[in-house]
Amino acid sequence: MKILAIDGSTRQSGYTAKALDLILDEAEGMGHDVERARLSDLSFEDCRGCRDCHRTGGCVVDDDMGGVLKSVKESDHIIMASPIYMGSETGVFKCFLDRLYSLLSPMEGGGFESRLPPGKAATVMLVCGSPEGHIVYHYLTNRYTSIIKGLLGMEDFNAFIVPGTSKLDSVDDSVTLQQNLETVKERLC
Ligand SMILES: Cc1cc2nc3c(=O)[nH]c(=O)nc-3n(C[C@H](O)[C@H](O)[C@H](O)COP(=O)(O)O)c2cc1C
Repeated sequence: MKILAIDGSTRQSGYTAKALDLILDEAEGMGHDVERARLSDLSFEDCRGCRDCHRTGGCVVDDDMGGVLKSVKESDHIIMASPIYMGSETGVFKCFLDRLYSLLSPMEGGGFESRLPPGKAATVMLVCGSPEGHIVYHYLTNRYTSIIKGLLGMEDFNAFIVPGTSKLDSVDDSVTLQQNLETVKERLC
């Protein structure tokens, strides 16, 4: 299985990166082909809103996001991770989400259909400082479900939050992450 991990953290060795390390070590141990895209290391623009993708079938902006979008198309399971900043995802992660718009094709009667091949799975991991992670979790998960499952057609979708990093010395100490790691492993089988 080809796995693409999107790291939306702005910190190279923060809790999000470490949590992704744990997940991806397991995935590699299971023999999967793993690619990791650290959004903060890449150079890419915001979506221009030009909608040229409707006509051309892909994003016309020539930057590093082109390679990420290609990998999204080619991967079987996309793991997307972002810290919570001000009650939402980081700016780079939001920019990535906006650029996924180019993977949607407008339908004649209205609405969109996905340009992605069927059968892909997706996992979203949100990481936040507050132990009260559930406050943002429900709002964000509803949004991600409608984007990733509803619009992009990745039916096999799961999201979880790793709360309380402000009180953790290491993400290895997160009980929530350990529990969700088991679910991720089952879904990668
Ligand atoms: C600019 C900024 C805004 C943040 N906003 C929130 C927030 O709204 N809610 C929350 O629980 N944590 C918030 N945090 C804490 C981060 O979510 C937390 O430190 C997380 O572990 C950061 O991810 P990282 O360790 O991968 O850098 C914020 C942190 C920063 C730097």
